[in-house]
Amino acid sequence: MDLVSIRDLEKKDIESILDRAEKISKGDNKSEKVGLKGKILATLFFEPSTRTKLSFQSAALRAGMGYLDFDPEMSSLKKGETFTDTIKVISGYADVLAIRHPKEGSARLAADISDKPVINCGDGANQHPTQTLIDLFVMKKNKGRLANLNVTLMGDLKHARTMRSLLYGLAMFGAKVTLVAPSSLEMDKDYAQEVEAKFKVKFEEQKEPNLAKTDVLYMCRIQQERFADPYEATKTVGKYKIGKEDLKKAKEGMIILNPLPKLNEIDKEVDELEEAKYFEQAHCGPVVRQAVLEYVLRA
Ligand code: NCD
Repeated sequence: MDLVSIRDLEKKDIESILDRAEKISKGDNKSEKVGLKGKILATLFFEPSTRTKLSFQSAALRAGMGYLDFDPEMSSLKKGETFTDTIKVISGYADVLAIRHPKEGSARLAADISDKPVINCGDGANQHPTQTLIDLFVMKKNKGRLANLNVTLMGDLKHARTMRSLLYGLAMFGAKVTLVAPSSLEMDKDYAQEVEAKFKVKFEEQKEPNLAKTDVLYMCRIQQERFADPYEATKTVGKYKIGKEDLKKAKEGMIILNPLPKLNEIDKEVDELEEAKYFEQAHCGPVVRQAVLEYVLRA
């Protein structure tokens, strides 16, 4: 099966992926038994990536798979070959495709073209489902639950695909979500309403984070590359920042997450604090993505 949007997964699917990731993290690496050994992953990244691409490749190697890394800059796309032909050809070389592309809908298109499972690793400002699985995994690991967790999503909620996918995942598991963004960078209303209606929840909106009531502060950078006018981005950069001082007001045990890369939204000195869990979050990537590879190749 394909994993293009977080909507492709039901609660029981997410629970089984998270359970499997936990077992893998504890050393239960029986991927041969689910048939991953000898299979090939193709990573196709039309946008920069550090964590998503490398953690998928790492997951593949840990599961006994091989991988092919497609480099758009050195490919026949440069000679004018189409996206469609590229996907058709690579589908004959690999068993599963992990794709990132700047255009919304591109992963769905790839999934329609390919006869192999396609995993969306980020399509424009739309969706990034595997990041959400990592986010839910690390929240559960640190806070022991997702239901009734007070989660504040703060930053560029308009352009961050991580935030859109995560909003859905959190609502599905009954977390209480507060959205904090500058007025020009608010979460798309139609999307938020769709999620509210589906899971019968209500999101709060605030202009300032209430750290005294927050269990998980999830931040993201201003996604400068997605602004129509780069000048608009520079105006908002630095609007929402967290430093050591701000954390004095935080609820006991609050954790800070960020899908990374972080720019200046989190002061460097915060990295050393107990609250900072974003590097641990990044390090959960391979186990969760190994569970995802098992899931899409089995289903
Ligand atoms: C994110 C992305 O690409 O959407 N990165 C990631 O996958 N960890 C977040 C971002 O770029 O801000």
